[in-house]
Amino acid sequence: MITQQTIDKVFETARVEEVIGEFVQLKKAGSNFKGLSPFVDEKSPSFMVSPVKQIWKDFSTGKGGNAISFLMEHEHYSYPEAIRWLAKKYNIEIEETKQTDEQKKQMNERESMFLVSKFAKEYFHDVLLNTQQGRAIGLSYFKERGFREDIIEKFDLGYCKDEWDNFTKAALAKGYDLKYLKSTGLTIVKEGGATVKKFDRFKGRVMFPIHSMSGRILGFGGRILTNDKKAAKYLNSPESDIYHKSKILYGLYQAKKEIAKQDNCYLVEGYTDVISFHQSGIENVVASSGTALTPDQIRLVNRLTKNITVLFDGDAAGVRASLRGIDLILEQGMNVKVVAFPEGEDPDSFAKAHSTAELKEYLSEKSQDFIEFKVSLLMQEASNDPVKKAGLIRDIVTSISKIPDGIQREVYVQECARIMDISEQVLFSELAQLLSKSARNTSISTRKSSEVKEQQDQRGMALIKNERQTTPKIDTLFILEKEIIRILLLYGNKEIDFVDWIEVEDEKGRPKLEKEEYTSLIANEMYLNLQEDEIEFTNEVFKKIYFQLIHQLNQLEKISIDQLINNTDPEISSMVTTILMDEEKYTLSDWGRKEVTVTETVKILPKLVTDAILNLRRVLIELKIKGILEGIKTENVVPDLEEINNYTALKKRIFEKLNRVV
Ligand code: CTP
Ligand code: MN
Repeated sequence: MITQQTIDKVFETARVEEVIGEFVQLKKAGSNFKGLSPFVDEKSPSFMVSPVKQIWKDFSTGKGGNAISFLMEHEHYSYPEAIRWLAKKYNIEIEETKQTDEQKKQMNERESMFLVSKFAKEYFHDVLLNTQQGRAIGLSYFKERGFREDIIEKFDLGYCKDEWDNFTKAALAKGYDLKYLKSTGLTIVKEGGATVKKFDRFKGRVMFPIHSMSGRILGFGGRILTNDKKAAKYLNSPESDIYHKSKILYGLYQAKKEIAKQDNCYLVEGYTDVISFHQSGIENVVASSGTALTPDQIRLVNRLTKNITVLFDGDAAGVRASLRGIDLILEQGMNVKVVAFPEGEDPDSFAKAHSTAELKEYLSEKSQDFIEFKVSLLMQEASNDPVKKAGLIRDIVTSISKIPDGIQREVYVQECARIMDISEQVLFSELAQLLSKSARNTSISTRKSSEVKEQQDQRGMALIKNERQTTPKIDTLFILEKEIIRILLLYGNKEIDFVDWIEVEDEKGRPKLEKEEYTSLIANEMYLNLQEDEIEFTNEVFKKIYFQLIHQLNQLEKISIDQLINNTDPEISSMVTTILMDEEKYTLSDWGRKEVTVTETVKILPKLVTDAILNLRRVLIELKIKGILEGIKTENVVPDLEEINNYTALKKRIFEKLNRVV
């Protein structure tokens, strides 16, 4: 692990504008820089970098953060990878925490396996291009298939000579340890009596190196060139410490940028499908390498986009087999579309036989929502058979029940009812049954509490409908809670004069309101008020940010925004950046905002603070009253009129205050 000191040093040294400047053309705009968003294609700049605050914000996608999070978003690095990249850029020496001997050994073993794999990739590539046998057999095979030279380069394609140990000998001569040649599977070692025999696993095959998301070589696929029915067409690296078939998507390294940019990922079966698509100019494509998709593979895509388009070869058997795997994608909350290719064609052959424009048109025209696709496919088989149709309904509803989002499920139910020509009610009740069953089967601790509540509900859709009605309330709360966080972040450390109206008794003992003036740090004032009312934030991210702010207030007696921007919790840093950068949005266009700032800070700050608190209290009270009234309706409890009256009176007083404080 990288030491905290190294991480701190990286944070101190790295300048967000310099880091981003390596990827995005930035232009000065006031105290900020602006540029075209690197995440979408756009004509007018919506991307902004603040050297003062050391943060960036992309207004077209809503992404934002510090230098580290930029590298994670743009280059799809992990956190340690981003730190390493920055350390290299700024010549900072990386210190690692002490590892146990066992950890060191394991790390060294994996490192050695990566090294030998990298050598193998380079060797096979060199053989392909620069040896007589490589060119005559390997390269001419690729040429015959129509692969261009730039594509051969891009995918690091190679060739392993048709000799027993040509590669193994070369690797040993270069000083690579036989141990790692064996553990990566590049060399097959046979020990018989006194002699040890070594063979190249991929003898006589063209080589497809398999890259990790960050470009390291994890393993290889090797294709045979003969039509030998007995030998496997493809041979792959065996499972090892660095090659886990179930966690690999072929082409991800070459596709990741375009997947994020297009906000969609095409999923195909084979190595050659991926390569042909690239050659046709479609680069957001990965292959599952001929196996059913796994949750780990889906998660890899999920980091880049929520949208997957599955491309089917044109044979019916393949389609049926893939249907089940797709439920897995739905389960991860992703949107799935499908495109079926004509009978006898796969993406590779189709791409070869058509122009880029034709291919693109085919993809967009034939792309179909997965659930609709499944319904129409199965309907063809079951149209006149009521028993089959019942089974089909269950099948479809099972797919729908995998979708985590309640509103989306409801839309699908309506859509399917229409296509299958049955009543929504039938589908809804089937779905409710499935949901309550799956809730009983799932342990509560592994789910979010809201999900559990929803899924356990025996009435199924009734609650899902309710969820929709509560959305506006949540929005109001979100806005009010965000306003409080915004004020804390922007003005928390300011000391200003406050006015409050407190209830005192006049000379005759009657209650009256008296004006009280005092000076306080805005953060303190907020804190005391919220604490007094025992107000808790409902939004999880705001709750986390607030908790950190209060912690700082107690420890440092002030607020430190840097700690939040550079927080390791990406939810915190991203939300804080968003709030701070919203203030800077004006520099993207030309109108000045100086005046606005001045008025806000000097004149209306006390009102801004008190209004924010009062408004939140008002809405919370309204929710309380509403809750009591709903309890009366649904559970037939006796109304506690006094409680309602108290709340209503409180609400009235808040309204008065809201109008009074100027
Ligand atoms: N595959 C494999 N082992 C096999 C056959 C296939 O690992 N014996 C994997 C490969 O990743 C292959 C994918 O399954 O790319 C799809 O198989 P297939 O469609 O048969 O191969 P293509 O990629 O179409 O290869 P080609 O066009 O060269 O026949
Ligand atoms: Mn093929």
